[in-house]
Amino acid sequence: MKRKIILDVDTGGDDAVATLLAGHHPALELVAVAVTHGNAPLTITLDNTLRVLEAGGLSRVPVYPGADRPLVADPLPGDAVQRAILPLPAPTLAPQTQHAALFLVDYYMSLDGPSTIYAPTGPQTNLALALRLEPRLAARIPRIVTMAGAYLEGNCTPSAEFNVVADPEAARVVFNAGIPITMVGLEVTGQARITPHDVARMRACNTPSARIAADIIDFINTAGWSAGEIYDACAVAALIEPPILTTKAMRVDIELRGELTRGRTVADISGRQKKEPNVDVGVGINRGRFIEIMLEGLGSV
Ligand code: BDR
Ligand code: CA
Repeated sequence: MKRKIILDVDTGGDDAVATLLAGHHPALELVAVAVTHGNAPLTITLDNTLRVLEAGGLSRVPVYPGADRPLVADPLPGDAVQRAILPLPAPTLAPQTQHAALFLVDYYMSLDGPSTIYAPTGPQTNLALALRLEPRLAARIPRIVTMAGAYLEGNCTPSAEFNVVADPEAARVVFNAGIPITMVGLEVTGQARITPHDVARMRACNTPSARIAADIIDFINTAGWSAGEIYDACAVAALIEPPILTTKAMRVDIELRGELTRGRTVADISGRQKKEPNVDVGVGINRGRFIEIMLEGLGSV
């Protein structure tokens, strides 16, 4: 049986590749895509999401526009490459009219909720809003698999990873909600870089989604953005085949106040604090299988 998932994206080149993988891999049923601010203002992340779904043969997937700003702070400017409109045709697809947070409440309170994994690959504002609207949601979401955080070094600042620092208050709500979480952070994504040889194999699959993904990876690499690190696709691959990820249960708290450390995912790596772990933190990934999963998914129509 296919595993049902809802993606929550801030598209963004790597979110686009993750969406194509989630929409085409035979192990998954992509139920819906929620969209948030993050890499760019919501108008751009929404436009990019619609572009990639339509060009990638996934027009059937409903798209819910969500938060256009963080819960408390001002939006971050994001990176110029990730802010760009993707080089795909302008979409004719229309988004749903319901706000993503309200959709998450309705969906997870419905019969399908408890069998659907939630996978945010952007700031976690939509789920934080939904949890405030309907706290019972915490018991209805079976697991969150998220590209977020870093237990060692950040990328947006030396302390913090982008998706968390883009809305730390939201991440604090989500990480403390009691929902099982798998954190696919920078220590994992850095081990799963895609090489030019992998991109050539992807292109040779010759499906629309494989061609689009290869073009996007070339586009962001040429612009000097990620050196082959396709962050968000790692979270989707870990959801398709959980054993590719090595995890360690840790207590993870979100730093909100530090002048230099705001947005840090503070992880009790050795368990010294003797606090109940709340996150399965990714510490390793089988890169070979990651690439094969990408090819399996993007090579399917
Ligand atoms: C994360 O930040 C965003 O720029 C990417 O899309 C990814 O989700 C990596 O830190
Ligand atoms: Ca993202």
